[in-house]
Amino acid sequence: MAKIRKPVKKVLYGEEERKFYWSEGDVHIQSGVIKEKDLKNSKVKTHLGKELICMPANFIDQTERIERGPAVIRLKDIGIILGNIPLDAKTKILDAGAGCGMLAAFLARTSKNVTSYENNEIHLEIAKRNMQLLGVKYKLKKKDIYEGIEEKNLDVITLDLPEPWRVLPHIETTLKVGGSIVAFLPHISQVERLVTEAKKTCIVVKVCEVIEREWIVDPPRLRPNHQGLMHTAFLVFLRRY
Ligand SMILES: C[S@@+](CC[C@H](N)C(=O)[O-])C[C@H]1O[C@@H](n2cnc3c(N)ncnc32)[C@H](O)[C@@H]1O
Repeated sequence: MAKIRKPVKKVLYGEEERKFYWSEGDVHIQSGVIKEKDLKNSKVKTHLGKELICMPANFIDQTERIERGPAVIRLKDIGIILGNIPLDAKTKILDAGAGCGMLAAFLARTSKNVTSYENNEIHLEIAKRNMQLLGVKYKLKKKDIYEGIEEKNLDVITLDLPEPWRVLPHIETTLKVGGSIVAFLPHISQVERLVTEAKKTCIVVKVCEVIEREWIVDPPRLRPNHQGLMHTAFLVFLRRY
């Protein structure tokens, strides 16, 4: 059985913002070795004299080290999801499918009660291990959401699976009036079908995609990066009436 990965304790930034994660033991990188006892939160040097900047790891660093399996949702999409749903200490959320549990982890940090359904045993175990690694708590259930939802009085349902329109028949008894649904869909044909079917019971608040363009700001190089992630998915935001 796969082991839970060790949490990242420190991040080391080298030249051109190259990043190294450290959990335990001495650091061995191309530019030399740094002894564990020398890893202070400041500038540190390898035995070959290369300087790196060392700092404590945060939650985002941990998310970069989670165990992968199914496609994982990206930070650019998580950001817009979190910004478009009502999140506070009272929010009750149902998420499906959990996948490696990335979105569920962010939701769990910002709301009261998160349950995530996953119908694939292997993915479920990955999500379980990642939950421990990330130090978050949510309920993880081995369940096919197309067959129904057990939770009631939900404020939000997040859907990252191929046929979200198959969840619509279950919202009347589980999602509060005014409650939000967010669907993450790679193909526009999926968006068309979801929006068409959702209009019978929901307001379509927004359909969008997020294109993140990173810039290089290292004078005299002041320009967008040549490479970038162009498409992950479309996002559909609905509210039940
Ligand atoms: C793309 S991954 C989800 C990624 C995840 N939301 C994240 O935060 O990274 C899609 C997951 O949905 C699961 N899935 C597909 N259909 C499902 C269903 N009917 N009920 C529950 N889970 C389902 C798949 O097994 C897969 O793990």
